Amino acid sequence: MLKFPMLWRKGREMRRVFSDIHRTRGWGEGESVSGPGSTRERAASFLPELVALVGSLEVHTLLDVPCGDFNWAGPLADSVPRYIGVDIVPGLVEANRRRHAAPSRRFLCRDLVTQRLPQADLVLCRDALVHLRLEDIVAALDNLGRTGATYLLATTFVEERPNEDIDTGGWRPLNLQRPPFGFPAPLALIDERCHHTGGVYADKRLGLWRFSDLPRRAR
Ligand SMILES: C[S@@+](CC[C@H](N)C(=O)[O-])C[C@H]1O[C@@H](n2cnc3c(N)ncnc32)[C@H](O)[C@@H]1O
Repeated sequence: MLKFPMLWRKGREMRRVFSDIHRTRGWGEGESVSGPGSTRERAASFLPELVALVGSLEVHTLLDVPCGDFNWAGPLADSVPRYIGVDIVPGLVEANRRRHAAPSRRFLCRDLVTQRLPQADLVLCRDALVHLRLEDIVAALDNLGRTGATYLLATTFVEERPNEDIDTGGWRPLNLQRPPFGFPAPLALIDERCHHTGGVYADKRLGLWRFSDLPRRAR
């Protein structure tokens, strides 16, 4: 009985944190409100490989959660019959609807941790879990699995990483193959070629997994 008010409060707090970051341009004044990782220049180093990988998986519906400001994802959305972009910040979703909606593209405002998400074949979860508390990541992975999707493509860092806990809205690199996640070896890895910042985050990848291969706790 107590679970639903708790989830509701958690979702509301998460929405407040990320709406504040969006409103104050907390991730910088650059080209994308979603931060320096979401510029078209950065995406150019992995987008062709991402489109090719998605094209090889017979994806009908791609769920991009979170989609941020959709600054770089147009070619990816155009490569599948149906694209659904989801973000927790209402203003961002409204702006995406105004600027980028199309018959094959929809944008929804949802919390990926606590709210039901639409059915999909593949879930793309780029640069999102790195901002969440460990407990919320485990719940989010569970929730993403409930979309019925076959595949998860998610940000992971392949070097030894301690997977520290943080407050909601912070950032740290995560290695999804390490505890507490314990993912198996990915089916594919896309190198984001992050060689700026002195190469400290050069191990940043998009990893592909089948949801059915993930440890039960993270499904
Ligand atoms: C760094 S941006 C990345 C956006 C996009 N994936 C990209 O690659 O450009 C992180 C986004 O996650 C969204 N976000 C954070 N927590 C979320 C949650 N619990 N549910 C849905 N979206 C969330 C934020 O509002 C923000 O737009």
